[in-house]
Amino acid sequence: MQLVRLIYVSVMTEACDTTALQRILEVSRTKNTARKITGVLCYDPSFFLQCLEGPKDTVNALYGDIVRDVRHKDVTLLEYVTVEEREFGAWSMAFVHASTIDKQVLEKHTQGLRFDPFELSSEQANDFLVDVAHHTSRHMAAQR
Ligand SMILES: Cc1cc2nc3c(=O)[nH]c(=O)nc-3n(C[C@H](O)[C@H](O)[C@H](O)COP(=O)(O)O)c2cc1C
Repeated sequence: MQLVRLIYVSVMTEACDTTALQRILEVSRTKNTARKITGVLCYDPSFFLQCLEGPKDTVNALYGDIVRDVRHKDVTLLEYVTVEEREFGAWSMAFVHASTIDKQVLEKHTQGLRFDPFELSSEQANDFLVDVAHHTSRHMAAQR
């Protein structure tokens, strides 16, 4: 079975209140562990930026569910590639609130401009999430 990495960005809708967000985090942790899916979900009040890694069929099926989820809209695929290894193998789904991202990391990726995740290339999106995960790994370790 091929291992794939998928990254998308989307816009949070009004249907996604704090309770709904909490539910997404809970369901993701449980179901991703069972499905051997790993990754990171970066969110703030306006967007979701998520990386899903795992067996191709499983990631494809989950992405189908996610695209139809009314808690977000304008789901835009940034990257879909076959990979040899996972970048986020330690996390069933690491959750990073954008406000907690290290300022230097943000500066490195925005170069002083406003951060717009929809403008990221596939490589930029992957590099950004790897950096975010690396710099917040201590915070994320508690979420494994
Ligand atoms: C931004 C976002 C990210 C999500 N990430 C995941 C995820 O990583 N894993 C997961 O199982 N569901 C995730 N979901 C929830 C799925 O869209 C869907 O509700 C869930 O997988 C369906 O579970 P059920 O069939 O048990 O009801 C996410 C939803 C949103 C809006």
